[in-house]
Amino acid sequence: MGITPGMLILLATATLMLGSYKVLALDPPPLEDFHVPTGIDPKTATAENFTFRGLGVVTPPVAGEFVIAAVSFENFSILKGGSVSAALFNYGPGSVNGLHNHPRASELLYVLSGRLDVGVVDTTNKLFNTTLGAGEIFFFPQGLPHYQSNPSTTDAAAALASFSSSNPGLVLAAPSLFRSGIPTDVLVKTFGVSEITISQLKTPYRPHF
Ligand SMILES: *[C@@H]1O[C@H](CO)[C@@H](O)[C@H](O)[C@H]1NC(C)=O
Ligand SMILES: *[C@@H]1O[C@H](CO)[C@@H](O)[C@H](O)[C@H]1NC(C)=O
Ligand SMILES: *[C@@H]1O[C@H](CO)[C@@H](O)[C@H](O)[C@H]1NC(C)=O
Repeated sequence: MGITPGMLILLATATLMLGSYKVLALDPPPLEDFHVPTGIDPKTATAENFTFRGLGVVTPPVAGEFVIAAVSFENFSILKGGSVSAALFNYGPGSVNGLHNHPRASELLYVLSGRLDVGVVDTTNKLFNTTLGAGEIFFFPQGLPHYQSNPSTTDAAAALASFSSSNPGLVLAAPSLFRSGIPTDVLVKTFGVSEITISQLKTPYRPHF
């Protein structure tokens, strides 16, 4: 069977739709050298507009404690449309950056110190997990659920994450499932467990676990 004009139009439409989906999922292409607030003359920009001093340095937390300092376009406006953002993660011994995903960004995690067990799950429910040491990088693809965990009972760990969006978004698995108000009977049937188990899972806990 040959390729008909109809098939070509379908293919072209599908390609265009895929293309526009990709563009919408990323920061818009820049129209200026860098983002400037409305009504401000770009010529007045100084190095301070390119600088963010609020991320802090590696500060080992106590056991079980996980501390994030994140910077996005919300607190560093020049990132707007710049397709990048960052976060500094400090992991106390035994702490976890619990299961979550970033709907608008892929992530590169660079381990600064200590060791981290990391994992990501793809759309076939396959887990890719490993242990990282200082100087090593792991890639978390856009939208896929992932975690990091500090397996040491004595040592802290730290990592720097960079994101492919100025506003990566964060969906924490536990609160989105159990603190969002999804009716208990839906959760009971979704997970095939009892109402008691669901109410235990709905019990308040620390936000990143
Ligand atoms: C630079 O930063 C200052 C202080 O936040 C702000 O008032 C000013 O509008 C910024 N200028 C540009 C050109 O982004
Ligand atoms: C940046 O802004 C976000 C959103 O308001 C906030 O959660 C975060 O703590 C801020 N980051 C820093 C380093 O202040
Ligand atoms: C990776 O996952 C497997 C299967 O659950 C587990 O046995 C293993 O300990 C994990 N490895 C790391 C480094 O987390």
